[in-house]
Amino acid sequence: MKIALLAGDGIGPEIVAQAERVLRFLMADGLKMELESGLLGGCAVDATGEPFPEATRKLVIEADAVLLGAVGGLKYDNLPREKRPEQGLLTIRKTLNLFANLRPVILYPELANASTLKPEIVAGLDILIVRELTGDIYFGQPRGIEQRDGQRVGFNTMIYSESEIRRIAHIAFQAARRRQGKVCSVDKMNVLECTQLWRDIVTETAQTYPDVALTHMLVDNAAMQLVRDPKQFDVIVTGNMFGDILSDEASMLTGSIGMLPSASLNDQNKGLYEPIHGSAPDIAGKNIANPLATILSTAMMLRYSFNQEIAASRIEHAVKKVLKQGYRTADIFESGMKRVGTVEMGDAVLANM
Ligand code: NAD
Ligand code: IPM
Ligand code: MN
Repeated sequence: MKIALLAGDGIGPEIVAQAERVLRFLMADGLKMELESGLLGGCAVDATGEPFPEATRKLVIEADAVLLGAVGGLKYDNLPREKRPEQGLLTIRKTLNLFANLRPVILYPELANASTLKPEIVAGLDILIVRELTGDIYFGQPRGIEQRDGQRVGFNTMIYSESEIRRIAHIAFQAARRRQGKVCSVDKMNVLECTQLWRDIVTETAQTYPDVALTHMLVDNAAMQLVRDPKQFDVIVTGNMFGDILSDEASMLTGSIGMLPSASLNDQNKGLYEPIHGSAPDIAGKNIANPLATILSTAMMLRYSFNQEIAASRIEHAVKKVLKQGYRTADIFESGMKRVGTVEMGDAVLANM
């Protein structure tokens, strides 16, 4: 099992270091894995001038799975778009055809008070957001900024083909079968043709899954329902941009964006695993970032890419125990708990492995 480690920028190296310790612990314990690091994002721009250098392209194509920290930073905000760190990430997703982004939103009971919502609203929360990741306005053409009638206009294209919608819908329905059997598809069909097609194709695909209950919701309402009564949701399936926004919103139900892992999969189980958050430049280099989203992403990697269910649950159990023992990074801290830094949180997870 060859794993490419792309730490990236900002807090990326700090959080990936803790996840790497977890993987190395499992290797010492007999799991056969090989780790190789590569450059992606701003650090790659600094070293080579490109956010996704050729060596990294080779590495991720050869690897069986990729673990990524995060990319991006203020320093790169004035670069041309194709040189931006984020472009490196988008290109990997497209190159590996990672169309299915799974973002589990799970509240660990110990963090009920860390959530900004009342504990009773979030207790027992377990949602899976299935976000389409290689289409939509992120990749649609035409796009650009150009001169029209004496002023500049900016434009992007929201576009989905039937086959792109169908394949992500199948992922959502199949996931629902292993859960509570409910899918809520989120769109904006009252305004956007692209998402009218989305609704039509999801509805059509649902006919193959009579055992799954499908509902539809407009995205503005979905954003509101997520904070009003989040437990009404089981699986949420939506497009690339709505999924990006709703998953950051949903993360706060669990206490912190530093708690949410993700898996981005293609149809060959090749996966890229990363926390849903970014490079957090405001806290980088201070040993205060929460590494649990990244550590939990390694569990998703072992489960989805390598079928190592035992190792995956071992990591997840260690995280649960750490929270039970009261270890908290700053983002999930409450009085009476043990405040720890990024490295110490890694220590605590390893101690519980
Ligand atoms: P962000 O997710 O980096 O940070 C948002 C807020 O959450 C910040 O206050 C940050 O300190 C906090 N936060 C994030 N992760 C945390 C963690 N593990 N522990 C504790 N607190 C955490 O979003 P942003 O500030 O909008 O973006 C910063 C940069 O990251 C931008 O360049 C953006 O493009 C990039 N970004 C990258 C990815 C990725 O690589 N997958 C994802 C999102 C944003
Ligand atoms: C995410 C990020 C990325 C996205 C950016 C950095 C390209 O926000 O993974 O959620 O928008 O998909
Ligand atoms: Mn995002």
